Amino acid sequence: MAANVLTLNVLILAAGKGVRMRSALPKVLHALGGRPLLQHVIETARALAPDKICIVYGHGGKAVPQTIGGDDLVYIKQEPQLGTGHALMEALPQLDPAAATLVLYGDVPLIDGETLARMLAIGKQRLTLLTVTLDDPAGYGRIVRDRRGAISAIVEQKDASETQRRIDEVNTGIMLIPTSYLPNWLARLKTDNAQREYYLTDIVAFAIADGVEVASVQPTHWWEVLGVNSMAQLAGLERIYQQNIARELLEAGATLADPARIDVRGNLRCGADVFIDVNCLFEGEVRLGDGVRIGANCVIRNSRVAARTRVKPFSLIEDAEIGADCSIGPFARLRPGTRMAAHAKIGNFVETKKTSLGEGSKINHLSYIGDSEIGRNVNIGAGTITCNYDGADKHRTVIGDDAFIGSDTQLVAPVTVGRGATLGAGTTLTADAPPNQLTLSRAKQLTVAGWKRPTKK
Ligand code: UD1
Ligand code: CA
Repeated sequence: MAANVLTLNVLILAAGKGVRMRSALPKVLHALGGRPLLQHVIETARALAPDKICIVYGHGGKAVPQTIGGDDLVYIKQEPQLGTGHALMEALPQLDPAAATLVLYGDVPLIDGETLARMLAIGKQRLTLLTVTLDDPAGYGRIVRDRRGAISAIVEQKDASETQRRIDEVNTGIMLIPTSYLPNWLARLKTDNAQREYYLTDIVAFAIADGVEVASVQPTHWWEVLGVNSMAQLAGLERIYQQNIARELLEAGATLADPARIDVRGNLRCGADVFIDVNCLFEGEVRLGDGVRIGANCVIRNSRVAARTRVKPFSLIEDAEIGADCSIGPFARLRPGTRMAAHAKIGNFVETKKTSLGEGSKINHLSYIGDSEIGRNVNIGAGTITCNYDGADKHRTVIGDDAFIGSDTQLVAPVTVGRGATLGAGTTLTADAPPNQLTLSRAKQLTVAGWKRPTKK
């Protein structure tokens, strides 16, 4: 995107109640792709490199500034909320008269930077409206044009005549305003309309009266200007957002078994020839290296997976660092702090936490391994458990290279298993096991001669 050459103030309107959401959470804090609606608009605004970004909030008290934060953002409280024109009156002291003011809506999250760049290209001498033609224009302000096709007014649905209601070109609400005119135009707004509100849209008529040309731009994609007023609309936008991400992944060369069955709530970056099976969810920052294959129904959050590793179905991976050529799952749970070196293996029904697994090491079945440091080429048998918690504190388990841990072993931490050590199956290890030797704790097997099973009398 070309850098914007205007001195620019962005004003994001986000004070509305969102009654139809039927939710205690302010509307603009509802999540789309795992981030608040307003956050999407802020990020799009930041990409335009404006001199200032102002946010008008109101409903929900301090929740909006507290949740969103941002040192570069100016928050303006609007209370009561007397309409879009009133929101601009409240913001006016923050707006630089020499800049152009771009008005965005906090509940219109998919607006694209490319569309906005085309509006900015028109410059700050004109009033530029983002308009769109809809099959069903009901509810929107209508764009009234004169015989020459020039915009003459915006008329709100509730104030429109029968003829005006048939106009299918509508106001999206997004506009670029020459700020130097705003003090005068806002002072002229009246509330003599159907909703008894200060309509920002009335400045169109003032612009024309003052000889300021009114221009219009249409969005590149129809979905950019969709707003969220209800949970149904939010769900609809979520699907559009996810489709867009899936399309980007496909364009970047990933194979998706079904582009309609992947969800990304954050950023997913894929190397070459990545395959992702159905119903996978990626959250936060996830990176998949070249040739990685993710099986069906996996959840991967804030993790990196290096080249050619296979994650088999139904695995959950969080805050983990996975090396190349590893195998994970099916049904594996890698909790935060799991690190796997190359060629390591974590199999079914294994839970790991704060554990590093050395190159070529394996935990193949039914184990809990936490707070552990495991060397290279270690084999951990089925049913091994690190007893890392004594009820008060967590303790570490250290296992040296080439160790062999027999099945059904409990490692009572803190404890160390030396290099090349073997633990016999069923061992409860309470003291360090020396290197290269067999250690086991096991009652001697005995057979009772002549013993008879009791029989019912
Ligand atoms: C507005 C436009 C209408 C346009 C429609 C597009 C006006 C008068 N009308 O209508 O032409 O077709 O948007 O969706 O501008 N807001 C505030 N403070 C307020 C009132 C609203 O911050 O006092 C914010 C809302 O949070 C929302 C946006 O402004 O993000 C639009 O408000 P909304 O009430 O939805 O406007 P509409 O009446 O739908
Ligand atoms: Ca609206």
